Amino acid sequence: MIQFIEATKVYGHSDRAALDHLTLTVPQGCVYGFLGPNGAGKTTAIRLLTGALKPTSGTVLVEGINVADEPVKAKQKIGFVPDSQEMYDKLTGYEYIGFMADVFGVSKQDRAERAEKYLKMFELADAAGQRIQSYSRGMKQKIAVIGALIHEPPVWVLDEPMVGLDPRASFLLKEEMRRRAEAGATVFFSTHVLEVAEKLCDQVGIIQRGKLLCEGTPEELQHRAGDESLEQVFLEMTASGEEAKDE
Ligand SMILES: Nc1ncnc2c1ncn2[C@@H]1O[C@H](COP(=O)(O)OP(=O)(O)O)[C@@H](O)[C@H]1O
Ligand SMILES: [Mg+2]
Repeated sequence: MIQFIEATKVYGHSDRAALDHLTLTVPQGCVYGFLGPNGAGKTTAIRLLTGALKPTSGTVLVEGINVADEPVKAKQKIGFVPDSQEMYDKLTGYEYIGFMADVFGVSKQDRAERAEKYLKMFELADAAGQRIQSYSRGMKQKIAVIGALIHEPPVWVLDEPMVGLDPRASFLLKEEMRRRAEAGATVFFSTHVLEVAEKLCDQVGIIQRGKLLCEGTPEELQHRAGDESLEQVFLEMTASGEEAKDE
C-alpha cells in the first residue's frame, strides 16, 4: 500500500509548491495511473515515494513505513523504474541484474530463476551478455524494469515507463503490471499517455500544478464528465489556468 498524506514539496527558493498537499492512497492489488501534463509534479511525487527527496511537509508511507523516517526499510519494499536512462552503462545486462539482486539481497537461486523468467518475458535474453551502453532506449528501459522486479517487491513504482518502448514491449510491460497487481502488489506509475491509463488502471488520478484535480476509476471519471473519453476529461481538466512549465 502507498499513502500520500498532505505531501508537499517546495524546491529551493521557489514561491510555488511543485507538489501541493497531495493526499492519495493506493491499496494492494491496485494499478494506479498518475496522470498529468509536463511539469505537473508527477516525478516530484515519485521522488518523495522512493525516498530520493524529503517532503517539505506531509507524509509518505510505503507498506505503512514512513519513507522520510526509515528510507532504507521503505526502499526495500519498492521496485523503482526511473524516468531517466542514466544507468550503469559499462555493465552487461546480466551484471546489472546481479548488481540489483545484490542490493536487495536476493538469493542466488531466486535471482537465476527470476532473471531467466524476466529476460524471456521481455525478450531480452539474447542481449543480456552485452554491455548496456550498446542497448537501444527500449532495451535499457526493459533492463531497468527487470532490475526493479528482481526482488519481487510488494510495491512497484514506474515513472513514465512506456516512453521509448515499442508497442510490443509496452504490451508486455502492461501485462506484467497487471499480473503483479493481481498477485497482490501495489503498482503506481506516472504517464501523460492516456490510452495506457484507460485500459490498464484500476484507479486514475489527474494532477496539475502540484494539485490532485480528481481521482477515480477510468469509468467514473468518464461518467462524471458525461461519458467523454478519458482523453477529453484530461484535456478539459488540465486546460484551465496557467500553462504548465517545462520539465
Ligand atoms: N530539482 C528541481 N528544482 C527546482 N524545481 C524543480 C526541480 N524538479 C522539478 N522542478 C519543478 O517542479 C515542477 C514539477 O516537476 P516534475 O515533478 O518533474 O513534473 P512532471 O514529472 O509531472 O513532469 C515543475 O515546475 C518543475 O519545473
Ligand atoms: Mg516527470
